[in-house]
Amino acid sequence: MIPRYLVDVQLSELPVIEKDVIVIGAGIAGLFTAIRASEHHSVLMITKKSLLDSNTRYAQGGIAAVISDEDSPDYHSQDTLVAGAGLCSDEAVDVLVHEGPKGVRSLIKMGTQFDLENGEFALTKEGAHSQRRILHANGDATGFEIVRALSETAIANPQIEVWDDHFVIDLVTQDGECCGAIVQKPGGQRLFVKGKAVILSSGGAGQLYRYTTNPEVATGDGIAMAYRAGAYIQDVEFIQFHPTSLCYPGAPRFLISEAVRGEGAYLRNIKGERFMDRYHEQLELAPRDVVARAIVSEMEETRSTFVYIDITHESPDMVKHRFPTIYEYCLKYGLDLTSDWIPVAPAMHYMMGGVKTDLNGETNIKRLFACGEVSSTGVHGANRLASNSLSEAIVFGRRIVKRINELTELMTVPISDNEAERSSSSIQAVVEKRLKLQKIMVRYVGLRRDAKSLAKGLEELKRQLPIYQSILTEREEYEFANLLTCALLTTEAALSREESRGAHYREDFPLRDDEKWRKHTILHRLHGLTEERIKDA
Ligand code: SIN
Repeated sequence: MIPRYLVDVQLSELPVIEKDVIVIGAGIAGLFTAIRASEHHSVLMITKKSLLDSNTRYAQGGIAAVISDEDSPDYHSQDTLVAGAGLCSDEAVDVLVHEGPKGVRSLIKMGTQFDLENGEFALTKEGAHSQRRILHANGDATGFEIVRALSETAIANPQIEVWDDHFVIDLVTQDGECCGAIVQKPGGQRLFVKGKAVILSSGGAGQLYRYTTNPEVATGDGIAMAYRAGAYIQDVEFIQFHPTSLCYPGAPRFLISEAVRGEGAYLRNIKGERFMDRYHEQLELAPRDVVARAIVSEMEETRSTFVYIDITHESPDMVKHRFPTIYEYCLKYGLDLTSDWIPVAPAMHYMMGGVKTDLNGETNIKRLFACGEVSSTGVHGANRLASNSLSEAIVFGRRIVKRINELTELMTVPISDNEAERSSSSIQAVVEKRLKLQKIMVRYVGLRRDAKSLAKGLEELKRQLPIYQSILTEREEYEFANLLTCALLTTEAALSREESRGAHYREDFPLRDDEKWRKHTILHRLHGLTEERIKDA
């Protein structure tokens, strides 16, 4: 059993720091909510590395919102629901598509500069979007521009204190309410940080898989600590594999944006044949899960570890202007996007599930909010529509702050000391353990699963359970313990869902089963796995 706390501390003996709002994580969700919350509250923003180390920073494609006159919230909603494969919450999608433009205006007010064309926002298209509705910045560096603007704004704001290099180990709860967190300083000292609201914005768990577009910091800390604290964790079997990450010897799995296909790129197998017409009528712009599985089938058929993405038929000037980051990155490895076919393969990209929230971003634990990839608001269903994640973070971020503004101060925060039996650590190097976990996930809980492989994966993961009885002191150890929690939850949920839907593909149950499975899977530390039927609108 996963324990309530990762460490055995006497809370009453820890130094206490008090702020109104504690924000954990520094991507778009953390920065945006911190800036808005600072209008009425003192804010402490805690990041385990720096403001520049988040998944947001690597977002290329952009941010989806209804901006053009030819678009409408109904179209955006329809595209989101179709991609979500029957598992989206209609209300959450409604909120997203109607409040998205307002959120974009807030981002602009905070200093973000989106690309313009003839004085209007330049809008692109990605897979499964029926309209051009994706705003971008500096071509393919949207995330970087957002992080630049928001972190400059946050740093200049005296109401926001930023702690870099601090690790949040656990949330502190009392009588079903969250009253703060246990934080470890860079030198190892621990603190109790108290607040009237805590916002988890710590991103997803991309590091669950060996092949991922996510940075090293994406270790699922928020999901794991919320689970330990008693939050409901929803739909974590739905892992989105991005179809096209760079697959080249010596190069990291760098994202080759879907927008490259949106601007006309083809996929070709190693024989040079275009193949998407054999899989989907939308060809290269079919939903991500379809494209990713099609690529794997082609790789298997041609006994290759990659396919190619080819945009050499488009104008080199357009390619360089639209995709400067990708162009430069590929060039570092001797690959010229304007004249070479680029080898690509699918890689873990995004977690649709996470900490379950209501429409105000609040979890079942009062005063604990979740925003961005760590959360499961119901917007993404079984498969996220490209570029909906940045929009989700700002739309629900606004709502979270509104809700926090209504909260009264916690009058008292009685604290019970936690207690657990722990033996001294004899853990084998965590780097090695992390690698092993990533390989288990690729092998048994990947893009295509079945009962046998998932059960085997679960068995192998459970061998690592003794980590929870060890004394942990280092950031890498906490991260591994958190990744293991996320891996166990993902595998358990994937094993239970006996159907194929969106990003979850079971070879032993290849069809979608609405009668039995139009449900969310919900995991709770004490109640185990339960299911919740989707309410029809
Ligand atoms: C991409 O640029 O392909 C990624 C965008 C996203 O995942 O939303």
